[in-house]
Amino acid sequence: MNSTPASDSPEALRAGLVKQLRDLGAIRTDRVASVIGQVPREAFAPEARLAEAYDPQRAVVTKRDKDGLAISSVSAANVQAFMLEQADPQPGENVLEIGSGGMNAAYLAELVGSAGTVTTLDIDPEVTDRARRLLADAGYDSVHVVTADGEFGAPGRAPFDLIEVTVGAPDIPPAWREQLAPGGRIVVPLRVRGLMRSFVLVREGDRLVSRGYELCGFVPMQGAGEQRERLVLLRNTPNEEVGLRLDDGDQVDVEALRAALSSPREEVWSGVTVGGEEPIDDLDLWLATVLDGHTRLTATVGARDKGIVASASPLGVATLVAGDTFAYRTVRAVDETRTRFELGAYGHGPAAAATAAGLVKEIRAWDQSQRSGPGARIEICPAGTPDDQLPAGRVVDKAHSRISISWPGQRP
Ligand SMILES: C[S@@+](CC[C@H](N)C(=O)[O-])C[C@H]1O[C@@H](n2cnc3c(N)ncnc32)[C@H](O)[C@@H]1O
Repeated sequence: MNSTPASDSPEALRAGLVKQLRDLGAIRTDRVASVIGQVPREAFAPEARLAEAYDPQRAVVTKRDKDGLAISSVSAANVQAFMLEQADPQPGENVLEIGSGGMNAAYLAELVGSAGTVTTLDIDPEVTDRARRLLADAGYDSVHVVTADGEFGAPGRAPFDLIEVTVGAPDIPPAWREQLAPGGRIVVPLRVRGLMRSFVLVREGDRLVSRGYELCGFVPMQGAGEQRERLVLLRNTPNEEVGLRLDDGDQVDVEALRAALSSPREEVWSGVTVGGEEPIDDLDLWLATVLDGHTRLTATVGARDKGIVASASPLGVATLVAGDTFAYRTVRAVDETRTRFELGAYGHGPAAAATAAGLVKEIRAWDQSQRSGPGARIEICPAGTPDDQLPAGRVVDKAHSRISISWPGQRP
């Protein structure tokens, strides 16, 4: 008898997924490979076809709000994998997951083993009912499923060795820090200056200090901590919308920038080139750190096709706003095969060339001082921490925290 599973069987799909996630760099250790090779994803995404449940890069959306925005999902396998690598759950640990679904809680339960404890918490009773049922059916009834606003953590079950947040957080509420054991870790998709990164942070006294981060996208946090970005439209012709995404108290002169958009553009090129597949998310984090007046320009395909802006980008591209002028990051191909691209900026408004040059100056600075370096270091201090007790760097003030972002410089 042939014991090889059919190529579309769950067993074969799991083995294939592990290989794909290793190739993507999302799985880095045998421990994470082992649990992803073991937990039946189809048991936690019964609404999806098998191929969707095992798609390495696509989330299965399980709930949308009245405007069609996804508010609950089973996260994509690559995101679950790299966050488990960041979190590094150890046997016997007490773990809190904020944002439930069932699947990631099952992975956590496997990693902490029978001596450990997993609590998964969601604000939405439909989500917790579903997660409780799916976890029990798959044999993970030791996971505690709690319906509550994650803003306040789970005080009755603290202290935690590890908190894994699986929802986009605009801030770090005090409960998360206070409910971590000394030296405990929190992995959290945190939005800072309009950019989301999954940070792994370690508690050092009343501070959280970063140990690394990854690019990610997550559904937004609801409840007491909800704080969405604002979108202001510079052009609202149907299908040709252009806007600015504002975050963390950003203020702009919308009327002046609307006028700027319809003025001719100036371009400034940096001489810095990147490969077509080369990630430049650290450049964006650098620009968000160093530029006063940093925002994100968004545009529809229609606006790009009309030539109003150079690229269509629903999430937005790094943009420097200086009063009545703005400039945004762009690229142009430098070879016929379109494999290398030069970074530059387009400016619009009375000071278009100077503003584009200001952005390009920081692209060059990133290239020279940071490009192959260790990236940013984030330290999160409680709100009210005096300036002289903050590490040097850009300080982003949130309701509950003061976030200091610094760039230690090139790796030796
Ligand atoms: C991406 S899903 C979680 C994915 C999940 N951990 C998995 O296994 O793949 C995000 C969840 O966060 C929940 N959520 C949003 N705001 C929350 C809050 N304040 N407290 C707890 N859960 C929240 C949503 O209801 C949603 O179910």
